[in-house]
Amino acid sequence: VSLRPYNTFGLEVQARYFARFGSADELRQLLALPQVQAAEKLILGGGSNLLFTQDFAGVVLKNEIRGLEILTENTDDATTALVRAGAGESWHGLVEYALSQELSGLENLSLIPGTVGAAPLQNIGAYGAELRDTFERLEAVELATGALRTFGAAECGFGYRESVFKGPLKNQFVVTAVVLRLHRQARPNVQYGALQETLASFGIAGEPTPHDISRAVVHIRRSKLPDPAEIGNAGSFFKNPEVSQRKFDELKAQHPAIPGYPVPGGVKVPAGWLIEQAGWKGLRRGPGAGTHGVHDRQALVLVNHGEATGHELRLLAEEIIQSVRSQFGVELHPEVNIL
Ligand code: EPU
Repeated sequence: VSLRPYNTFGLEVQARYFARFGSADELRQLLALPQVQAAEKLILGGGSNLLFTQDFAGVVLKNEIRGLEILTENTDDATTALVRAGAGESWHGLVEYALSQELSGLENLSLIPGTVGAAPLQNIGAYGAELRDTFERLEAVELATGALRTFGAAECGFGYRESVFKGPLKNQFVVTAVVLRLHRQARPNVQYGALQETLASFGIAGEPTPHDISRAVVHIRRSKLPDPAEIGNAGSFFKNPEVSQRKFDELKAQHPAIPGYPVPGGVKVPAGWLIEQAGWKGLRRGPGAGTHGVHDRQALVLVNHGEATGHELRLLAEEIIQSVRSQFGVELHPEVNIL
């Protein structure tokens, strides 16, 4: 089975077996099959955070669990609403559902590619918000046993683009549903500079509505980030590295323009800035006009212009890591899952 339609890099790789499931029960039935039990398993959502560097010899299980609903378990709570979403729903579809229900909390996370079920794995974040800010709990099926388990926020171990599902519990659970606690009263979060500028450019003075914020985020993302439907990519390829204050002071002395954001224990530096300064932004590699490279409007994003292989993209990533290491003494780490 070709996985090209199922990875946003648009890479041509083959999977030995492929099956879809539309409910937690269907997933458990699949997991009980001897062929599935014996095979290596890859759970696929939107395929928007994956780099395939070779064919997959196991079984790909595509999560197509649908459903968007407001739960009634907290009806006496006038300030928040619990929204439950099936893991196979598109993330942006959930954001739009929340907006249509006049619920606030997801608007800053508009237009992030991928599915609801993938969101907790790396605690998706953008424009000053993260999944964990509204996260209530998730439901997951254990691959080894088929048992259904609920994880509260504390058990998910969320960090910057991190969770236990990328760490100690990697490849052990399949998220089947996510429950978020959203606000009935708008809570605008416009600390992110570019967001304020965009809202101002829209002529929005005073407090923006969740719809305004969503519109601004969509505008910014469309202007900087390539649309995977047009140019293969997986969003940020690297995480923004964290350095010590001392290291940052050294860098600042040499490169006065370097941006940095204080975080507990140090300073977070935009990887996009480091990669751009190292001369990679807009680079194209490969025959003709180039098959792959670094996006020309956001250096943190690697792109497949059509005929690249995952192997070539991984080599490019390794070269970028080396070049940033030798020029700045900073170590970049991939954010995408390399398979
Ligand atoms: N910058 C450059 N050159 C570039 C890109 C960025 O100099 O080519 C510098 C600029 O100084 C800019 C700063 O980096 O002001 C921040 O850039 P941007 O606002 O584009 O954000 P980012 O730090 O590069 C992160 C997330 C994005 C998210 C944006 C907005 C990570 C790894 N990436 O990127 O997430 O959309 O912030 O909040 O944290 C993703 O994870 O796939 C993703 C797109």
